Amino acid sequence: MVALTQSSSSAERVRIAIVGAGAIAELAHIPALASIAEAKLVAFVDPEEARRETLRGRWPAIPAHATLADLEKSGLPDAIIVAAPPEHHLEPALWARRHDLHLYLEKPVAASRSDVDRLVDAWRDAESVAMMGLNYRFHPAVIELRERISRGEIGRLVTLHTVFATPAVGPDDWRGSARSGGGALLDLGTHHLDLLSHLTGTQIVDVACVMNMRATENDTAHLTATLSTGCTAQCAFVFGAAETDRIEVIGERGALTLDRLNGSVAARSERFGYTRGAALGRARALMAAAFDGVTRARGEPSYRAALAAWLRKIRGLAVHLPTLEDGARLHRLVERAASASTSGERLPVSIDEADTS
Ligand SMILES: NC(=O)c1ccc[n+]([C@@H]2O[C@H](COP(=O)([O-])OP(=O)(O)OC[C@H]3O[C@@H](n4cnc5c(N)ncnc54)[C@H](O)[C@@H]3O)[C@@H](O)[C@H]2O)c1
Repeated sequence: MVALTQSSSSAERVRIAIVGAGAIAELAHIPALASIAEAKLVAFVDPEEARRETLRGRWPAIPAHATLADLEKSGLPDAIIVAAPPEHHLEPALWARRHDLHLYLEKPVAASRSDVDRLVDAWRDAESVAMMGLNYRFHPAVIELRERISRGEIGRLVTLHTVFATPAVGPDDWRGSARSGGGALLDLGTHHLDLLSHLTGTQIVDVACVMNMRATENDTAHLTATLSTGCTAQCAFVFGAAETDRIEVIGERGALTLDRLNGSVAARSERFGYTRGAALGRARALMAAAFDGVTRARGEPSYRAALAAWLRKIRGLAVHLPTLEDGARLHRLVERAASASTSGERLPVSIDEADTS
């Protein structure tokens, strides 16, 4: 493991390999790393030959290996980002632990409970820095919303409504299979369930859920939850609908609505109607509509902010990061919601399972 100090020169940049260099690596991790002075992207590992050819075409200076063993032969990096499909997270995470490398693990931790438990156990007490890729905690609008809630702007919280929807998954996409770590509840719900606790500082104490299949396995999940304060939450997670990522927090004195795709937080109070924040949000939404999805994904600031926080921690600064244990608790919460869907019952969630703050 590298011991880097705050005064490390650019020659001491953290050398990072991306393991699983598919869509999110290309859209988010690679451009983010290119813009962070402390980071140096040194290798890709991807088992798909066609994907490696594409990577070599786009980034000819960065070697693309087929296996972790090939990467090891060519020289170990200081850190890895794991962005393979969830059923393939365990092996590189254990490999990184064996070599004392730092780890940025994309969500969810893994596809199965046994992989989650093995991975988290292996990393317990590690000295190198492991971070769960719950990047939306680092989104400026999420940070703003959290601050406004905690300063009491809308009073005591009564209910939250959230929607996270993305376009349909293709026929060969791992997101279409629960065994591979897909399904809307695990893939999209992990983010919003994390934010429910992160934004409100409370825990989920019970959950009910209905999952349906419109085109692919579990591509629609509707979940209701009760938080420890008695506040309720209703969430919809959907593949195959217009791209939407919205969280509305309704309190006794007003409401705040986060629209991540246009990066806004709009405020409303019963007495004053929508405030200037809402007008700005609408203006931003109109501007955002002028761009296509790829343009917006490239403009998503939370990946860079999350990776920059990871690198600050690697350099020895005191930074609060989402942990692998946070990811494991979210996995258990998702499992509980899936059980509630099967049984048709509202199920209690133990505090330990729900605490993601
Ligand atoms: N934080 C977020 O907002 C966010 C957004 C999108 C994806 N993700 C996560 O990132 C991960 C990848 O998602 P994606 O959309 O890029 O998927 P993808 O299918 O586009 O890319 C995955 C890549 O991993 C490669 N791969 C397959 N098996 C592998 C293995 N055993 N070892 C190494 N690489 C392997 C594939 O060839 C592919 O290039 C998933 O865990 C997903 O949940 C997170």
